[in-house]
Amino acid sequence: MQQRNWRKHAASALITCLLGLSVLPAAADTMPPTLNHRWLQDLRDGKVQLDGDHSAVEALILQRDIPIPYDYIATLMRTPNAFGQGPACIVCHSSTNPEHSYRGLNLSSCEGLRAGSRETPSRPIFQPGQKAPGKSILGRRMRNNRMPLGVHFAVSTDTPAYAAVRRWIADGASNDARFNKDVLPLFSRDNVFAPNTPACTTCHMSNQEPPSFHELDLSSYEGIMLGADSVAKGVNNATKVVIPGKPEDSGLFQHLVEDRMPPGISPTEDRDHPNTLILLRWIEQGARCN
Ligand code: HEC
Ligand code: HEC
Repeated sequence: MQQRNWRKHAASALITCLLGLSVLPAAADTMPPTLNHRWLQDLRDGKVQLDGDHSAVEALILQRDIPIPYDYIATLMRTPNAFGQGPACIVCHSSTNPEHSYRGLNLSSCEGLRAGSRETPSRPIFQPGQKAPGKSILGRRMRNNRMPLGVHFAVSTDTPAYAAVRRWIADGASNDARFNKDVLPLFSRDNVFAPNTPACTTCHMSNQEPPSFHELDLSSYEGIMLGADSVAKGVNNATKVVIPGKPEDSGLFQHLVEDRMPPGISPTEDRDHPNTLILLRWIEQGARCN
């Protein structure tokens, strides 16, 4: 009797193994479907398009909102070329001591990532669980190319042109005589923010994309205040690039002074690299350390 039971169990275990995960156990009605069941069902229903590694990350990880383990984030921080060609983050950001680590930013531990930059201005680089992690300091440094597109990271931001844009926004970003004389022309002349670089308006000249990147028009006050993607998202939902009074929070100023990481990464490297999307999802999920 005991032996027969054993065989019965062994046989059913074997069948379950052979049929693999596509067979639902009898109790499936009462149990929530597993990740595998949902994935296989979506595949059968034709809801999944697989086309290269990038879409595997999209279909298997991001769409299913798999909890990203910190272990994977730790690996990304210590791996060269993890987000496109360039050295590993921890070479330059390895401790909270600003004498040894840029910005006193320690990307080699979970606590360090959550603490952010410890050099003045000391600040977190994201909020665990935040809804739009691409807007965080870390998200911007991963996804936004410094402008003008292709500008070298070593170009100093300590020049009168940068100061003029900053001051204009800080003073309330109004359409006054000083703006029209000292600020607006900066965007339509070559070599203003860096040597050998085209004017901003070469790439941002109207609300039509193409030819204007992100439907951003830097040739007039109205265009600047309207912001980016006003056609795609609608005028009311356009991405504001100037927040009057707040240069550090204004996309226009951020894009001028913030270098994409790692320094020297080519602007042609995918801004939506699968590992970047995974890093941002980890933040959105609460930046858990276990
Ligand atoms: C070769 C050295 C180097 C590497 C590699 C590097 N960084 Fe940086 N990082 C810097 C320097 C220098 C600064 C400060 C200057 C600046 O603001 O551009 C900085 C600034 C930052 C900041 C801004 C912090 C703040 O408080 O504003 C973040 C975030 C950042 N890096 C993240 C990263 C990430 C993530 C990686 C890996 C993808 C990385 N860095 C790779 C040198 C490096
Ligand atoms: C050679 C073309 C080119 C030039 C020149 C250029 N940009 Fe850009 N700009 C882009 C591209 C491409 C993007 C898309 C995002 C990215 O790569 O980070 C962009 C994005 C932006 C954004 C973000 C818009 C959004 O969606 O929030 C701002 C702001 C911006 N640029 C400002 C400037 C300023 C200011 C200058 C001049 C200093 C400038 N750009 C020069 C190509 C250019």
